[in-house]
Formats: sequence, C-alpha cells, structure tokens
Amino acid sequence: MKHLIAPSILAADFTRLADEFAMVNESEADWFHLDVMDGRFVPNITFGMFIVAAMKKMAQKPLDVHLMIVEPERYVESFREAGADVISVHYEACPHLHRVVHQIKDSGAKAGVALNPHTPVSVLEDLLDDIDLVCLMSVNPGFGGQKFIYRTIPKIRQLKEMIEAANASILIEVDGGVAQHNAESLLRAGADVLVAGSSVFKAPDPQNAIHQLKALEPIRSF
Ligand code: DX5
Ligand code: ZN
Repeated sequence: MKHLIAPSILAADFTRLADEFAMVNESEADWFHLDVMDGRFVPNITFGMFIVAAMKKMAQKPLDVHLMIVEPERYVESFREAGADVISVHYEACPHLHRVVHQIKDSGAKAGVALNPHTPVSVLEDLLDDIDLVCLMSVNPGFGGQKFIYRTIPKIRQLKEMIEAANASILIEVDGGVAQHNAESLLRAGADVLVAGSSVFKAPDPQNAIHQLKALEPIRSF
C-alpha cells in the first residue's frame, strides 16, 4: 500500500482556515490530522467537537482525530458525530484501553491508539486484533514544531514486526517533527501514515511539500 499523508491542522493559519482546508483538499494529501488537546493530558488547549464539526464541512478527505485528552471515553461518540473517521486515544490516558477501543469501533470510526515517546510498543501486544492504527509520537505531545525524536525509528521497526507476526492489519502512523529529511527513513522502517504539521503549513509551497512527502518511494530495509 502506498503510504498516506496527513497534514496536521495545528500548524495551519487559523485566520484563514477555509483556504487551508481548500489547499489540502486540492493536494495529494490523504487525511486531515486534527489535534484535540485539553490542557490536562497535555499542557496545551486546542479545539473540541464543535470546531471538528465545522472542519468536517470544509474537508473532502477523512478526518483523523488525535485525542490528547484525559478520559477520552467521555467524548468518543461526540467526536464521531462531529465527523471523525479515525479516532486515536492515548494509551497513557486509558486504564481500560480495550474497552475504549471497542467503544470507538462501535461508534463506527476506526480505532487508533497513540503512544508517547517513552511508551514501548510492546504494551500493545494484546490489542493487535482490536486496533486499526497505532500513532507513534515522535515528539512529546502538546505542541507543533518540535524536534523529531530518533528513537522512534526502531520503535516503528519493532511494531511492524509485531503486526506482521500477528498477521494483523494495522496502520503505523508517525506524528511529530516529520519532514522531508526524515520521512524516507520512517517509511523504510515501516510507517504507513505520515503526519506533518510545520513541514507542510510553514513551507513556502505547502502543496509541493505534501507532494514531496507523497512521492517518496522507499524500499523496506528488512
Ligand atoms: C503534537 C501533535 C502533532 C503536531 C505535529 O502534539 O500531535 O500532530 O501537530 O506537528 P509538527 O509536524 O509540526 O511536529
Ligand atoms: Zn497529532
């Protein structure tokens, strides 16, 4: 499968959001990545379901909603109703993760689990039959524009091996500090979805930045 590109709206110009959505609609991007932050799980606050519902009206591509919030089980159905196609919750925020994953699937969305940089991929061993996507954080969640953490690359490789050994069908998404200079190594390690905020929206030509990420043709290294 050709890898997917999910521009992160966090880095967009919110004074001209409709133009930014139109730019992504007309680009080679595959999904919109929407970062929901609550000021509790992460220090920052972004937007909630009302804004996601407005974004749904502007988006012509699936919405990949990354919930960086405590107790995400309280809001799964609201985000689904707002138009989320993929909903990811954090492993670190969910003591009853198996239940939340099935709650997401029952809502009709694809279920993702996000892992902070310090969380090993092995914690997902017993969920491989249940989830549709793993979002590996390659920065500490909370802010755009941070430096990529290189330790993520062996984690991608390890997760890919786990998924293949279990014969599961799970997308590996990498989120944080993704740019042209590291994207190829991420794909080679086994990434399926690249989230890119600053490297797309702060580029002089965002559609071309998306094109460059999409055009990579990596050969898997193992
Ligand atoms: C960080 C968010 C990311 C962020 C990525 O908490 O989950 O999606 O927007 O932004 P860049 O690509 O600028 O690191
Ligand atoms: Zn994100």
